[in-house]
Amino acid sequence: MVTSCPQGLDPYRLPSHIAVIMDGNGRWARAKGLPRMMGHRAGVQALKSTLRNCSDWGINALTVYAFSTENWSRPVDEVNFLMTLFESVLEREIDSLEREHVRIRFLGDLEVLPGRLRDLISEATNKTIGNEGIHFNVCTNYGGRRELVLAAKRLAELSARGELDPSSIDENKFASQLLTAGEEDPDLLIRTSGERRISNFLLWQLAYSEIYVTDVLWPDFDESALLHALLDYQARCRRFGGLDPIENRSIGEKT
Ligand code: IPE
Ligand code: IPE
Ligand code: MG
Repeated sequence: MVTSCPQGLDPYRLPSHIAVIMDGNGRWARAKGLPRMMGHRAGVQALKSTLRNCSDWGINALTVYAFSTENWSRPVDEVNFLMTLFESVLEREIDSLEREHVRIRFLGDLEVLPGRLRDLISEATNKTIGNEGIHFNVCTNYGGRRELVLAAKRLAELSARGELDPSSIDENKFASQLLTAGEEDPDLLIRTSGERRISNFLLWQLAYSEIYVTDVLWPDFDESALLHALLDYQARCRRFGGLDPIENRSIGEKT
């Protein structure tokens, strides 16, 4: 449900799908002399406002990186804090997600998450599965390489059982085995905190996404920071390996 689109933004050229690497919670806290955990807590507020703005402005899908397969290597206290934070936020927000027609899904290896979190994830997913608002994908215990390996494994199993002709495997068949199956690829990837890397996020899906890196730390990523990212996106020329449409026309006219 589109309620408004800020001035200056072209409502017809919005990215349909935005992916976000929400980074910089720890540095935000350190800069304020606070424990890292406070940064994660503040990051939840930034996520809530980003989801609301994306939904209000007419973005169809938002996919965020909440916890990577590599994040288990952090101190056990921080990992436990994050799991408990995910639980309490989910429990608190399930009703408002429903009310706001959000369809939430969790992408990643969910089997190894704590039992209570797994239950809340199932509840939120099932409750919102029929919602027709923004698709909100939360990558939790997600790793791009693991996702690709699992997809390859599933295709190999189907082939070994004689249910799939290996010569028929193409990009669409491969993508249908990914956790994002059914979702369009992100048009725009935002990474906060100035880091210029992908950190094992959506390795297949980001093939042609526009990348926007900002020095803003995730807890400070507010409406104006999102607007800035979208204005930057709208100034880009996406060529997908082809030519700029204007250049294309001028070549056509000459020949
Ligand atoms: C991102 O913030 C949140 C998660 C990875 C869970 P960080 O915790 O990575 O914050 P920095 O990068 O240490 O500042
Ligand atoms: C990426 O951030 C993962 C998430 C935002 C969940 P990290 O902070 O884990 O990435 P690196 O270690 O800087 O590459
Ligand atoms: Mg980080």
